[in-house]
Amino acid sequence: MTESITITDNRSGNQLEIPIVRGGVSAAEWQKLLPGVWFYDPAFMATAACDSAITYLDGENGILRYRGYPIEELAERSTYLEVAYLLLHGELPTAEQFDTWRRDITYHTFIHENVRKRFLDGFHYDAHPMGMLVSAVAALSTFYLDAKDIFDPDSRHKQIIRLIAKMPTLAAAAHRFSVGMPFVYPDNTLDFCANFLSMMWKVAEPHFEPDPVLVRALDILFMLHADHEQNCSTTAMRVVGSSHADPYSACAAACAALYGPRHGGANEAVIRMLTEIGSVDAVPAFVESVKQGHGRLQGFGHRVYKNYDPRAKIIKRTADEVFAVTGKNPLLDIALKLEEIALADDYFISRKLYPNVDFYSGLIYQAMGFPLEMFPVLFAIPRTAGWLAHWVEMLDQDSKIARPRQVYGGSEQRSYVPVHERGR
Ligand code: ACO
Repeated sequence: MTESITITDNRSGNQLEIPIVRGGVSAAEWQKLLPGVWFYDPAFMATAACDSAITYLDGENGILRYRGYPIEELAERSTYLEVAYLLLHGELPTAEQFDTWRRDITYHTFIHENVRKRFLDGFHYDAHPMGMLVSAVAALSTFYLDAKDIFDPDSRHKQIIRLIAKMPTLAAAAHRFSVGMPFVYPDNTLDFCANFLSMMWKVAEPHFEPDPVLVRALDILFMLHADHEQNCSTTAMRVVGSSHADPYSACAAACAALYGPRHGGANEAVIRMLTEIGSVDAVPAFVESVKQGHGRLQGFGHRVYKNYDPRAKIIKRTADEVFAVTGKNPLLDIALKLEEIALADDYFISRKLYPNVDFYSGLIYQAMGFPLEMFPVLFAIPRTAGWLAHWVEMLDQDSKIARPRQVYGGSEQRSYVPVHERGR
């Protein structure tokens, strides 16, 4: 079997054979036969925008791997900080490399006092924490002017450390502000996730020691959310980064993409849906109404996964461990019933609709005490590692500026008409 396609321009009869390389055909080759004819592909449904070696995703078979390592193994045996190193460097760190990495990140968790006192304090009292995060990340570029030196390896490394380290501090600061609580400084005796929980929940105690089960659960959730190849926010990061903007500005664009309910907001929609259903007895009628076309089953279905999302399986286990500490989220029984009914129903089976990562993650976050508004923020913290890994890869590949074409469907040329001659 020849691994190629042949295209024919029926206007001229000219033909061109293009090799299929790792599941892709080169659009540059296509252009040789058809200059000025563009692939029309809104939302990039059938376009590979880059050649990436970071994350492997097979949606048909429910497989997710970071740098070749199955997500199940990483979630079981690794930590978020190690996974962040792996995504960025391509290899797991040695013990010595990891010590340096952890120390560097721990010592960059503080934010400039002006970011907190003058910038974050300037928001309206009921500001959404995700809106605050988007703006604060962009504002960091004004504090680190060396961030513009994106081709200087030392500067690039420094900004990566700063971004990964400061995200939890900014996230917790945004939450504390939105509920009128005083800012909590990072505690560098704690590890990454414990420190974040301390900045979130500490009140008057001199040292906050979070429950280790909850710290581990958060670490697992952070690993599961660290990367997911060319999703909407990662694409935003690569597109903005391709203009050679500094990484804070590019990261702010990625955060903004994640703010949208179609991307980072789905787990919040799940909680709202389960609350609206209200009881296990009401589940069959709700599923029926979804089948009749009244809304969607939130947390079900995925553009790429046509099988059980492997992350959802891991999260389901983590949920049991968290509920053993926090008490069961009362919405869990409704979620389990919903999953049971949907997975046995031909409507969902025939459309290959399975629970995705967001079906259970919101239940865990809610049981841990996070308000719904923090859900996209909790997604942005770990996804920063993935965004940065893609940013570095894109720069190292010497990518051109992202600049798609369009199919023009507007007016033909026409002449300007002065306002008094335009009629009503
Ligand atoms: N509930 C009910 N029906 C659904 C659902 C759902 N959750 N998802 C898809 N369908 C149906 C559609 O109605 C359509 O049916 P039809 O062929 O009879 O018209 C069919 O399945 C295909 O749906 P599309 O919208 O074409 O699938 P697409 O790949 O564009 O959408 C998406 C994927 C957006 C995730 C969709 O499944 C959805 O809206 N799910 C609910 C929201 C959600 O959970 N989002 C989180 C995604 S994970 C993440 O971003 C981290």
